[in-house]
Amino acid sequence: MSTASIAEANQPFPAHPFSKNPLRTRDDVVAACASFLDPLEAGFSPGRALVRVGGTGTRFDETAAQIEGFARPLWGLAPLLAGDSAYKNTNLFVQGLISGTDPNGSEFWGNMSDLDQRMVESCPIGFTLAVAGKDFWDPLTPQQKDNVAAWIGSMNDKEMPNTNWLWFRVFANLGLKANNAPYSHERIEKDMDHLDTFHRGDGWSNDGPEGYTQMDYYSGSFAIQYLQLLYARLAESFDPKRCEEYKRRAKSYALDFIHYQDSNGHSIPFGRSLTYRFATIAFWSAFAYASVEPPAPLTWGIVKGLFVRNLRWWSKQHHIFQPNGMLNIGYTYPNYYLAENYNSPGSPYWCMLSFACLALPADHPFWTATEEPHPFTLKSSPLPDIKYLKHPKHIMVHKNSHTYLLSSGQSCHYPLKATQSKYGHFAYSASFGYSVPTGSYTLEQFVPESALAFSDDGGEIWKLRREVEDAQFFERDGVQGLYSVMRPWKDVEVRTWLVPPVEGWGSWHVRLHRVVAGRDVQTAEGGFAILGTRKKDGRMLGQFEEETKEGTMVGEDGAVVVSKAGASGVADLAPRDVNGGRKGGICNVDANSNLMEPRTLLPTTYADLKAGSTTWFVTAVFAVPAEREGWESCWREEWENRPKLEKWTQDLMDAQ
Ligand SMILES: *[C@@H]1O[C@H](CO)[C@@H](O)[C@H](O)[C@H]1NC(C)=O
Ligand SMILES: *[C@@H]1O[C@H](CO)[C@@H](O)[C@H](O)[C@H]1NC(C)=O
Repeated sequence: MSTASIAEANQPFPAHPFSKNPLRTRDDVVAACASFLDPLEAGFSPGRALVRVGGTGTRFDETAAQIEGFARPLWGLAPLLAGDSAYKNTNLFVQGLISGTDPNGSEFWGNMSDLDQRMVESCPIGFTLAVAGKDFWDPLTPQQKDNVAAWIGSMNDKEMPNTNWLWFRVFANLGLKANNAPYSHERIEKDMDHLDTFHRGDGWSNDGPEGYTQMDYYSGSFAIQYLQLLYARLAESFDPKRCEEYKRRAKSYALDFIHYQDSNGHSIPFGRSLTYRFATIAFWSAFAYASVEPPAPLTWGIVKGLFVRNLRWWSKQHHIFQPNGMLNIGYTYPNYYLAENYNSPGSPYWCMLSFACLALPADHPFWTATEEPHPFTLKSSPLPDIKYLKHPKHIMVHKNSHTYLLSSGQSCHYPLKATQSKYGHFAYSASFGYSVPTGSYTLEQFVPESALAFSDDGGEIWKLRREVEDAQFFERDGVQGLYSVMRPWKDVEVRTWLVPPVEGWGSWHVRLHRVVAGRDVQTAEGGFAILGTRKKDGRMLGQFEEETKEGTMVGEDGAVVVSKAGASGVADLAPRDVNGGRKGGICNVDANSNLMEPRTLLPTTYADLKAGSTTWFVTAVFAVPAEREGWESCWREEWENRPKLEKWTQDLMDAQ
């Protein structure tokens, strides 16, 4: 008899062709790209200028939203054509470009205004003109060419946000230049000079000017590194110096960025725009596209492995599609809580930029190399299991088959939805993902996942870390970690020290908090949220049972949840007289708060603090993902074996 639960017996739709793709060869990847393009046919407008993917709205107008549906898929189609593969519906996209840019036509996209979303979509259009002009430019009449040039060229005198968006204008101009259409060389130079000021060092750029503290997938795959690498190939003949610099940055960045992917291919979810899904690996695709020489210990086989394993991981997520085969908004399943106000139904197709490598012919070493495993899985990995990244202020950890990061000091510069979850959490895991709030009443809706939450109104509203002061690395007695200070209110100060697993801690990491409360507060701190249902029947886990070896356990100092996804726990190691009498429990967080599992439970530790008190929390966080071989027979012993507090922690507590 199958051990699968009855709840899994029924899959809602026939499997998408992507789910059956082995993703091994260039032909497989061409087929994968086509399998994302095919379902869009049903969404085209009569003149082909717009593609409707769904019915939800965005902060910008519906036409711009449907231009996204049209333009983002070009990120995949253009390199596919550039690499001399064919795609049956190419003519729909060519026709759409003609209609959308015809100011006399009924499907004209509209003039570009300052700060217009249309500017973003000019980037894939510019790239398409640059690499697939034989399909998208040459067949056009002189009037149609003038229209295309006028439409994208109209960006040159508009105001743009001071962020990665400036790259979009560079690509619009590159597309025109490649086809000998009027473009602005001066504009490219000016934008590039400005974009270069975002570079902080070692290949890491901020998504914006100095003072911003945001280094997420936009620094690498979604925009900056990615576009630098495309530029490095497209501009080789007229800007060789900058191209060399971008390749140098990419090599340096590659050795950091490899730590963001686990050995199964999943990228650690961190930051905004995660509905772009496998766009997180676009860096590796662009790295190949620009033919950057992989820096030791990386090889083409490793780079290819990082790329195809991620696609394969996504091919097993059956709920990323609508019944008609188009992508939905969400992560591993449809989810609007995590979506940004700029995520239109067509927006997820930014993922198509990961197909840039299709522009490479089949005899490029990226395609001919034999796929190699993530170096983490080698007996003696050439990569450190803990790596400190100065620029993003991340500590990358790979221990006992768990890939995660500790973070302090990042925040988004504008009011992003669920910003505390996307940038403010203490830890982000490739196995467990992060969780976002679902509402604004009670802890279960605020979800203190990998966060310390505070309430001063009896538990109605909870505040989680957003901005911090003084984020920096610290070192004490050979232990390195991340320090930061947050103030949920002016009269409540929380100093936090995040400590990655030191020798002997195994599957634990530690967070020390010193809380000075100027008012009465309730506090709650969670570990990682984990699938909270039983194997047998899919119902909510109850107390741990020896027979089924799953369930929840709440002890004096902490709590742990064990399910088929692994074990996740949290415990407070501080003496009870200094930790406010903190108690473990299970927070039954709201459905669909976690971006990887729709039904999760959160091991949590709680304390109420009085005005005028100073309290130390020593939070030990435990996580054993099911990806770890033999986890079921070893998690218990490790859970009972709490990390030993080193002398430095006591010294620290005494000294503060
Ligand atoms: C739009 O139509 C007018 C009137 O027929 C014509 O003069 C003009 O050239 C057209 N413009 C474009 C861009 O096709
Ligand atoms: C769009 O821009 C063109 C060229 O600048 C201008 O002639 C036209 O009036 C504009 N249309 C609208 C609706 O503003």
